[in-house]
Amino acid sequence: MRVRTTAALAVLMAAALSAAGCSNDASMPGQGGGPAAPAAPSADCPLASAPDPGNSAPPANVPASTGAPKLAAKDTYRVAFSQNASNNPWRLAETASMQAEAQRLGYQLTVTDANNEQAKQIQDIKGLIAQRPDALFMAPITEQLGNVVVEAAHAGIPVFLLDRDVDTTAAKPGEDYVTVVVSDFVQQGRRAAWAMAQATGGNATIIELEGTTGSSPAIDRKKGFDESITQCPGMRVVVSQSADFTRAEGQSVTETLLQSHPDATAIYAHNDEMALGAISAIRAAGKVPGQDIKIVSIDGSKDALTAVDAGELYATVESNPRFGPKAFETMQQYAQQGQVPVQLVLEDRLFNRENAAQNIAEAY
Ligand code: AHR
Repeated sequence: MRVRTTAALAVLMAAALSAAGCSNDASMPGQGGGPAAPAAPSADCPLASAPDPGNSAPPANVPASTGAPKLAAKDTYRVAFSQNASNNPWRLAETASMQAEAQRLGYQLTVTDANNEQAKQIQDIKGLIAQRPDALFMAPITEQLGNVVVEAAHAGIPVFLLDRDVDTTAAKPGEDYVTVVVSDFVQQGRRAAWAMAQATGGNATIIELEGTTGSSPAIDRKKGFDESITQCPGMRVVVSQSADFTRAEGQSVTETLLQSHPDATAIYAHNDEMALGAISAIRAAGKVPGQDIKIVSIDGSKDALTAVDAGELYATVESNPRFGPKAFETMQQYAQQGQVPVQLVLEDRLFNRENAAQNIAEAY
């Protein structure tokens, strides 16, 4: 109800402003007047009139982890978690979820923070291996961490990858690590492309802000989005550049790219933080986020849902960071049964004008 009321008010206010000869003030947050409505679908863009592709089907015939180091069934465990960064709300929510679940279970958890540096994460993991935890959880910064995963396996420590994968030619699933618990990042990219087609009707000159180079979400979210928009000749990515999943780089990279691509009408950001930085850059360029430039991103943070509700961000595809319950449940299952599937895929929601407002309170 609130959404409709806000939208109706926006229409009345826009009409009043226009009658008075006023333009929108780009510095005012939420001046878009509430969540953004879909654009009329272009006839040659099937994506613009298709339903939300939703989550992918659960992967079939996933092998079991029979060759990884075993974990004894015990009443309590001493475990470790190598986090790759703490520079955004998503990372903080993931760490908090791991800590809360460990505490609930009465397990001892050591957490390291690699400060968004691959070399530091490798050193962190080597240090954790030396402490010989019962199990090692790892959120690898890039896919290039296979060697240190193998090192942990050789030390007899079962490794559980969380939220990001490693190159499986360097570390074998089910042998060098027990399992990887992830969202389907390719599908997230497809859903973002669908949302962008809704936002633009299938006509968009797109700036793509990529995540950390070499990380599985950056690789897969790009693949899913770029492949999907080939269905629509009016949608094209004119430039695609990394902003390292951070708000500050999202802002600075967008500032630069808006100068070299002043004709851009849309931004696809691989995460919310970069999208929020992009919104600041759009305002600084004297344009109106959500109107002059449509934005779609991924994660589902509190700030992003607030931006959706304000009409600045069109939609954000959820990537749920609350891994704690699933991570420890999987670890316990492995201890009891000696094997789990080598890949476990989570389900995510999509937040747009229909449901953003009602989910702000529970978001991170
Ligand atoms: O691996 C998941 C991604 O990593 C999230 O989208 C991002 O915000 C985080 O840094």
